[in-house]
Amino acid sequence: MQTADKRLTLIMSWMAGIAAVMIALGMPLVYFGLSYQHDTASLETEAEINARIVTQLINADPEMWRFEELRLAELMSRRSGEGTKETRRILDTRNILIAESAEKLAPPLLMRSETLMDAGIVVGRIEIIRSLRPLLMKTVLMMVLASMLGSAVFFAIRIFPLRTLRRTLKSLFEEKERAQVTLRSIGDGVITTDTEGKVVLINAIAERLTGWTQREAEGKPLAEVFYIINERTRERCENPVDKVLREGKIVDLANHTALIARDGAERIIADSGAPIRDESGNIIGVVLVFRDATEKQKLEEEILKAGKLESVGILAGGIAHDFNNILTAITGNISLAMRDIKPSDAIFRRLVDAESACLRAKELTYQLLTFSKGGAPVKKTVSVSEIIEDSARLALAGSNVRCKISVPDDLLPADVDEGQISQVINNLLINAVEAMPGGGVITVRAENLTAGKGDALPLAYGKYLKISIQDQGTGILPGHLRKIFDPYFTTKQKGSGLGLAICYSIVKKHDGHISVESVLGSGTTFSIYLPASSKEPARKKDSREEPIRGEGKILVMDDEAIVRDVTGQILKHLGYDAEFAGDGSEAIELYRKAKESGKPFDLVIMDLTVPGGMGGKEAIHWLIEIDPDVRAIVSSGYSDNLVMSDFRQYGFKGVVAKPYKIQQLALALHNVLNDRA
Ligand SMILES: Nc1ncnc2c1ncn2[C@@H]1O[C@H](COP(=O)(O)OP(=O)(O)OP(=O)(O)O)[C@@H](O)[C@H]1O
Ligand SMILES: [Mg+2]
Repeated sequence: MQTADKRLTLIMSWMAGIAAVMIALGMPLVYFGLSYQHDTASLETEAEINARIVTQLINADPEMWRFEELRLAELMSRRSGEGTKETRRILDTRNILIAESAEKLAPPLLMRSETLMDAGIVVGRIEIIRSLRPLLMKTVLMMVLASMLGSAVFFAIRIFPLRTLRRTLKSLFEEKERAQVTLRSIGDGVITTDTEGKVVLINAIAERLTGWTQREAEGKPLAEVFYIINERTRERCENPVDKVLREGKIVDLANHTALIARDGAERIIADSGAPIRDESGNIIGVVLVFRDATEKQKLEEEILKAGKLESVGILAGGIAHDFNNILTAITGNISLAMRDIKPSDAIFRRLVDAESACLRAKELTYQLLTFSKGGAPVKKTVSVSEIIEDSARLALAGSNVRCKISVPDDLLPADVDEGQISQVINNLLINAVEAMPGGGVITVRAENLTAGKGDALPLAYGKYLKISIQDQGTGILPGHLRKIFDPYFTTKQKGSGLGLAICYSIVKKHDGHISVESVLGSGTTFSIYLPASSKEPARKKDSREEPIRGEGKILVMDDEAIVRDVTGQILKHLGYDAEFAGDGSEAIELYRKAKESGKPFDLVIMDLTVPGGMGGKEAIHWLIEIDPDVRAIVSSGYSDNLVMSDFRQYGFKGVVAKPYKIQQLALALHNVLNDRA
């Protein structure tokens, strides 16, 4: 603004100066010129007239005319106007003065002469002389006046139009400022181009998204600055300026358009382009408005992923309950049978195999259950490092892959479902092993991290544990990256494609996040984020020890006869007395009678879901009515998740998940009976 103002002032001063000088000099010059012309013309006329009169005298008397002194003197003293001073004289051919009327004239002088003739022969001449001084005086006066006028004009031009121009310039400048500030403050990227597609203007957001500054981008072809491709096909998109110019209206970009910044960063963008028109409607350029839609798209994909998992979950939940009951009966019976024979027996080996097959089946149910509503995690405060070590030992056994684990001593504990989290780590490790058929190293790192502020992670603010599992395997094709968490997506001949879907589902249920980075041919890194806990981790119990025995009267409620049967046998084996009920109402009846008879039950084990009858969740209310101190354990697959994970809130004192091994049931009974749960 200031330089423009200075330039304007300078130009206006020059213009005013030139005008003033022209007036101050031009006017007197013109005046002098015109007056001079007029004076010479009148002098000439006068000389001519006088010459004619004298010629008449000569013609009348060619011999004696020069002696007519009186007449000639009178002729010479005749004046055309008042106050005109002049000298007149008549001279003969020898320059001898014949007559004269002289006046005192101040130089410079102006003279005109005319010849006198007689019958074609020159006989003399007449001269008239005037002074130029009066004209010069007037011209000087005129000059003074003109200078005054010139000065007035100078100031008039310098002040008034300049003031108006300045005001216009200022408002123009302000308007430009406002437009620029508006443009700069718009939360979207804006680029304008001319009709040839050359960049004219680029705002701050567009500078950030493209990596080009205004100065660098100005005048460059748009395609160079605004490099867009189809995110899926990786092909270059049509130049939006061409499209706008061709269609002459607002156009939107196609979906899945990615903008490649100057530094190679890729962002999904949503964008539209519109023609810029002048007053008469001609297109004079194009304006593009675009925004970073990467986060939005990620969010949409997450929602889609969650939706897909939910539908699989409903299916899985449907079969989970029955399947678990069957497994409980099988595992229970196997456990019992193993206690009745010596380990050296051939049948014992068979039973060991059968038990481990059952455990694999249990694992599969577990995987499926994770999808169903029953998959809510049963959380405990644990140190994740133990889970990592155990999982690594299991997953890598017998493979040619080495595992490097780095866990800091101050790693925070987490509230997690141990089984589920080890399932996640297990699945990831198995994938890593499978991606390195020629062997290699897997690096597992755990660290503490504060997330949720200023990072791109979809996590609430707080402390987290980050566990990353990095392999040196084949890597994942960019086109596959968005699909690997889908249920049933697999590239393996014998894969179920459930591994990562389960990981995703479990981590989400723990309010965490899972992400992946992969470079084709050099490896993949999966990162899991889990909320850290402020509580102390619980000590691990060794499940391989002998089951804890006990005594007391136990009531078992389950709708499945095989489950009642095997549980009864286990209880007997552990030293307890057992009675059975097929549903909730029968259990309530038995409990009341026993209490009234003075031989009450010490503990009740109840199933949650009883098709067509009262389940454990309802029955416990009634039992509490009868006996506020009732000791009850809830036993189920995970189908009614909330009661299992929050069993205390529902009035239970303990929980044991089906299918269970003898040790697990024994421990649960022992803890509840000794009020240690
Ligand atoms: N570490 C990895 N390296 C390379 N590709 C991987 C890796 N992890 C997962 N994948 C790819 O993701 C796909 C899906 O994995 P996911 O664990 O869900 O199923 P799967 O391993 O194929 O089958 P399952 O786990 O049921 O045996 C795999 O088929 C594989 O193509
Ligand atoms: Mg897998």
